[in-house]
Amino acid sequence: MSGKNSHVGDCCPFNQVFLGDALDILPTLPEECVDLVFADPPYNLQLKEDLWRPNLTRVDAVDDGWDQFASFADYDAFTRAWLTGCRRLMKDSATIWVSGTYHNIFRVGTIMQDLGFWILNTVTWFKSNAMPNFNGTRLKNDVEFVIWAKKSPDSRYTFHHHRMKPFNDFSPGKQLGSVWKIQATGGAERLRDADGKKLHSTQKPEELLRRILLASSSPGDVVFDPFLGSGTTAAMSQHLRRQWFGIERDPAYVALIQERLEHVTPLPLDDPLLAEPPKPPRVAFRRLLEAGYLQAGDRLWFDQPDCEAVILPDGRLQAGDQVGSIHRLGAQLKGTPSCNGWMHWQYQDANGQFRPLDDLRQQYRAKLKPGDHERS
Ligand SMILES: C[S@@+](CC[C@H](N)C(=O)[O-])C[C@H]1O[C@@H](n2cnc3c(N)ncnc32)[C@H](O)[C@@H]1O
Repeated sequence: MSGKNSHVGDCCPFNQVFLGDALDILPTLPEECVDLVFADPPYNLQLKEDLWRPNLTRVDAVDDGWDQFASFADYDAFTRAWLTGCRRLMKDSATIWVSGTYHNIFRVGTIMQDLGFWILNTVTWFKSNAMPNFNGTRLKNDVEFVIWAKKSPDSRYTFHHHRMKPFNDFSPGKQLGSVWKIQATGGAERLRDADGKKLHSTQKPEELLRRILLASSSPGDVVFDPFLGSGTTAAMSQHLRRQWFGIERDPAYVALIQERLEHVTPLPLDDPLLAEPPKPPRVAFRRLLEAGYLQAGDRLWFDQPDCEAVILPDGRLQAGDQVGSIHRLGAQLKGTPSCNGWMHWQYQDANGQFRPLDDLRQQYRAKLKPGDHERS
């Protein structure tokens, strides 16, 4: 399962750990073959001294050599190099998730933007079981962040919006927000040796990876992790029937991953989590007129306010002597074969703000009852 830094060929190397330094291995991997990247890089935690609990036991902090860098400049150069390598592997439609804390996440985010990634969200992972700040010198550090980005501003990407609603920790069943309440890894999930010592200092919770994989990939998609550690990404990919591959430079961790994967059972093929996520009902533009969101005679603006059209009673638009559906007229105005009119036409809300027509479609959909089917 593990391989050396040899030529990998043009196909994605499925379900393999590459043993070695990510900076050496990334350039040898095939281009544009990955659907999703999860990266949990060294955080450069900068812990200056040991931490002690009030009962004088030492805190098992992350003080591993792999997490330490001589300077911010060194850390930035490392970050730029591995992010560049990952971007090369990503299909245009792929997205990347990168975890971090206040120590590194702002540097990582800046570098991602500089490299051309387009940030979609920052997930705040709230750890309800986080350790207190024993010295009482600052706030309890109970969050980590995960930046979610697409490859470039114009790329289309996978997001299973409806699939994620059950994971809303605050209003179950409603749209999932970007604060996720997940306990830090513990209990039976935490990998330990016979003496109870953690086998990896930063093992991520499976629930975090479950959400990330379900949100932005589909069964059979290819998931890549440049810093596999104890293999949480690989384990959850195997469980959720995604293909995966990744890199880890410590042979002991590679052995740990192999051992871990032997105990991971893929979900049964008929498990609802593997089913095609439900598609949102189609909405015809004229439904917005019937429901009173807009009226015949109202104006819409195309991309920018100096190009406008009037809504006709039958739900078509008229701009000058051109008449057509929101999509057809949009394509004519853009001079392109097709156009998603929901995204390009804007209406003016009660406060005079221009908003995409899609906002009204979302409001209309939110009021549909289960079983309501719309056809255009
Ligand atoms: C934060 S941990 C990842 C933990 C992982 N997400 C998990 O759930 O176990 C980062 C891992 O990257 C590895 N690592 C650090 N620098 C590396 C490099 N340059 N190339 C490959 N692996 C590296 C470390 O050995 C460590 O296991």
